[in-house]
Amino acid sequence: MINQATRLGIESRIPRASNQQSASVELGSYQLEKRTEVNAKWGQADINDWILSLLKLHHGEVILDIACGYGLTTLLAAKAVGPSGQVVGTDLELAFIRTAHDRGKRNQRLTFMVHNATTPFPFRDETFDAILCNFAIYHFPIVDLFFDEVYRMLKPHSQFLVTGPDPANNEFLYQVQIAAGGKITALMARDTFKNTTKERLRPHYSYRYHVFTNIITFPSIDDFTRYYSDTTLFLVNTPVEERAHQLLKVRQVLENSPKLQNKKVVGGYLARKL
Ligand SMILES: C[S@@+](CC[C@H](N)C(=O)[O-])C[C@H]1O[C@@H](n2cnc3c(N)ncnc32)[C@H](O)[C@@H]1O
Repeated sequence: MINQATRLGIESRIPRASNQQSASVELGSYQLEKRTEVNAKWGQADINDWILSLLKLHHGEVILDIACGYGLTTLLAAKAVGPSGQVVGTDLELAFIRTAHDRGKRNQRLTFMVHNATTPFPFRDETFDAILCNFAIYHFPIVDLFFDEVYRMLKPHSQFLVTGPDPANNEFLYQVQIAAGGKITALMARDTFKNTTKERLRPHYSYRYHVFTNIITFPSIDDFTRYYSDTTLFLVNTPVEERAHQLLKVRQVLENSPKLQNKKVVGGYLARKL
């Protein structure tokens, strides 16, 4: 398929569907959908409004959304840059890219492709007016090349928005986890994104740290427990045969909690290339 992406020196890369999608991809995709649904249903704020208010995109701009998931933000960015702009969304997972592609296929200024963000990107130097990486960088096992590539692909003085968990993120979920006897694993660290990202940006960008807060109020203990178990990070160190027992303990903790509210706190560096 050839579309406007050819102007960027690429063609749309949507590999053919495979029936052998891994269980972990299916699980990841399910979780992302579920969490997005919960945020929209019971949250009081929308992260995409926040992202777009920070980036202030203009008609005609060329945007890259790295690790775009199934492309919710990417689609909104395409709307913001209008018919003269172009937007590319990339993600490691074929399942997400296929969904994103299906949702955006009537939009000729939008391209999705499978790409691992820890490897070189197929775009020329100084291609993009803005690059976004929302809630994904902490999944990348190495980030050196990622930061080099973002810098290389940005036009001079253009913007990079990178978001991740703020140290105050998910406080209630963590309290529940500890009270129910669950472990806090290294994977669940909330305090590394803020500092490590700042160190990477400091030499090459002017930047400011912004915070987005979304309080999610669950209508019932069942709904909270489902959310907790969908966020499998909280069960990951519990052997499979003990998970049902841990969930029972979680329910007991919730029965004694005055409110069923979890606060999502997302930190975002809005950085301008020096
Ligand atoms: C929490 S989701 C966020 C998705 C999207 N940015 C959003 O805001 O909805 C994290 C995303 O990072 C992607 N991801 C993880 N490791 C990646 C990598 N090495 N390269 C590209 N994408 C990756 C996952 O497939 C997933 O879509």
